[in-house]
Amino acid sequence: MPSSNQKPQLRETSSAREPAPADPYLLTPGPLTTSLRTKQAMLRDWGSWDLDFNQVTAEIRQRLTAMAQGGDAYDCVPMQGSGTFSVEAALGSFIPRDGKALVLMNGAYGQRAAKTLDYISRDYVTLDKGDYLPPLPGEVDEILTADPHITDVVLVHCETSSGILNPLKDISDVVQRHGKRLIVDAMSSFGAVPLHTTEVPFEVMVSSANKCIEGVPGFGFIIAKKTALEAAKGRSFSLSLDVHDQWVSMNKTGQWRFTPPTHTVVAFYEALLQHEEEGGVSGRLARYSRNRDVLVAGMRKIGFETLLDDEWLSPIITTFMSPADPNFEFKRFYDEIKSHGFIIYPGKLTEVDSFRVGCIGQLDEQVMQGVVEAIHQSLRAMGVTSPKPTIVL
Ligand SMILES: Cc1ncc(COP(=O)(O)O)c(C=O)c1O
Repeated sequence: MPSSNQKPQLRETSSAREPAPADPYLLTPGPLTTSLRTKQAMLRDWGSWDLDFNQVTAEIRQRLTAMAQGGDAYDCVPMQGSGTFSVEAALGSFIPRDGKALVLMNGAYGQRAAKTLDYISRDYVTLDKGDYLPPLPGEVDEILTADPHITDVVLVHCETSSGILNPLKDISDVVQRHGKRLIVDAMSSFGAVPLHTTEVPFEVMVSSANKCIEGVPGFGFIIAKKTALEAAKGRSFSLSLDVHDQWVSMNKTGQWRFTPPTHTVVAFYEALLQHEEEGGVSGRLARYSRNRDVLVAGMRKIGFETLLDDEWLSPIITTFMSPADPNFEFKRFYDEIKSHGFIIYPGKLTEVDSFRVGCIGQLDEQVMQGVVEAIHQSLRAMGVTSPKPTIVL
């Protein structure tokens, strides 16, 4: 990584105060509501080969590696595209062509990882826990004991489709004990839920710009052991998604191999500074946890039920069961809430009707109280008398 003693200078923005956004608040897990300061960082054009821009990239890589307490053993490689591109790049670059993965699935993103392995012709088995049950360390232990051909274990940290925070540390311990490699999709958790290589010595971790660091969409990033990055040489099925090649090239030239999302990158740098000012990962975790607590308490007061028990609720996003009342219709509900200035998220469960409300982005307790009130008023407007769901899990 090129050294950058000089901090990149972004131009001062004119307004320090945040006006209430004219757009609806995004109660969605990325893209999310960003600060004015982050948006204003995009009001400049940057040369992708220019030293100023390369310094921003280098600084981002250093800060992200430090956030994971990666020290000298790890490095960060940003990749163009949405989070899925980075997951695909990681799976195709780090799982050897003759390797075999164990994919721990309990929702859409675990399923997507398995589908990706089909596309890129990597062998795998799955532990499928359905929509909302966590993969358990004992189950992983049994599978790894029974199948010595497994080389890599893929785990989604926060399965955003239900909001469950999977037991990463306990599973990591089992994976280490078996001498296997752990690939973590920490897309929606990194930056707000601690993930330190000292505790969870993952091989590879993937996240993206528009989640808990609160940047805008356009790139993902991979934090990996340098030994893994070296071993990835020549493995990728794809030129543009070759993590090793991106890493080597970035270290050599300071540049992205192909056109970088320049505006997204400088906005992300500005978002990283705000992340630090808020108290880093612990500061962000505290705010998101307060957001979730206000949301869940308010929704339960109205009569809604969460899909998950409290023990599994992440501070990222919460799934609520849809009311069984025949007057409830999600599209109308969504539009009503939007008319109050909030955008919520449809459910992503296969078995029960649900919807999700995110807690990440530039949101605070007041906004969460506002969305609870908007939800309450929307039910009244629709003539829904009880939010009780049909199915009790
Ligand atoms: C856990 C997880 N993995 C992967 C993805 C895919 O990211 P993207 O939609 O940016 O491609 C998401 C998106 O929300 C996610 O939450």
